[in-house]
Amino acid sequence: MSLQNFLSALDSLQSEAIATLDAASDAEAFEAARVKYVGQKKGALKDIQKQMGSVAADDRKSAGMRLNEVKQAIEKAVAEAQSRISGGGESGADPTFDPTLPGVRPTIGHVHPITQTITHLTEIMGRMGFEAAEGPEVEDPHHNFVALNIPEDHPARDPLDNFYLATAATGAEKQNVEGTRLLRSQTSTVQIRVMANRKPPIRVISLGRVYRPDDPDATHFPMFHQMEGLLVDTHVTMANLKTVLRVFATNYLGGDVEIRFRPSFFPFTEPSVEVDFLWDGNWIEFGGAGMVDPNVFRAVGYDPEEVSGFAFGLGVERLCMRRHGIKDIRDLYSGDMRFLSQF
Ligand code: PHE
Repeated sequence: MSLQNFLSALDSLQSEAIATLDAASDAEAFEAARVKYVGQKKGALKDIQKQMGSVAADDRKSAGMRLNEVKQAIEKAVAEAQSRISGGGESGADPTFDPTLPGVRPTIGHVHPITQTITHLTEIMGRMGFEAAEGPEVEDPHHNFVALNIPEDHPARDPLDNFYLATAATGAEKQNVEGTRLLRSQTSTVQIRVMANRKPPIRVISLGRVYRPDDPDATHFPMFHQMEGLLVDTHVTMANLKTVLRVFATNYLGGDVEIRFRPSFFPFTEPSVEVDFLWDGNWIEFGGAGMVDPNVFRAVGYDPEEVSGFAFGLGVERLCMRRHGIKDIRDLYSGDMRFLSQF
């Protein structure tokens, strides 16, 4: 075959193949065209390649170059037709897709209102120099009671008022046995853990779960959260305590919140008070507080003649519920997304 004829055969193959592939409108037509032009066995490209042998040896180089160009052009047309028909590529956009319809909003996670409150409280207290500390929820009687100056016969240690764990020794008389464990009933346990490991000055808060066997109602739940605060230094007074609580409440609840102390009793503080905030014209109790009892300092190896301090424990749910107008604590733990996603 002359070079001239070979080249013109290539030209017509190229235009015919590309036109056919471009016109293929379904998978069947495409497949037929693919086999016809680039099929491994009887494809037109293979066929014409074989005819190269009949071109004069001197012309073979230019014949081969042109053959390669045609081959590439056809293969490109094959790839384009394929992606158009299989739905890929710009020209193959899915005709059932309507870009003007509103999008499907993905459901993303939501931070629980109590977790949000904990973050908020930590941030407010952090600005007053209080560092967050943590302690375990499964405690021993030493941290939950003994070091907090709560004697053996104190009603707070009653098995009916605590979740003693079944793996531990049972019965009131065995509460001091090494292995006894209970779910902590207050975050004051963290006071002991922090003081036992550090030297004053100390300024910490601890936010976490506590457990008491209460029947659930609008204001009680067997698990709730407390924010414990502890400040130990020299010459600490109750005025410092009141100021910290007032600044805290003003920040969290908004407006200039008034604080009221009512005399009370806790084994680990002396004097002890109940803390009320004036909210919406009503005095509402938010927790307990007081000056750290000398016996607590002794239990952790501090000298009560040298250091003084205050501690407080506030109910986190109570704070959160007041701020958001939540009326029933059980709503927080029902797992009902219609309720929770409002916050
Ligand atoms: N732990 C006390 C309670 O749970 C609150 C409290 C904390 C009181 C610190 C005084 C000091 O009721």
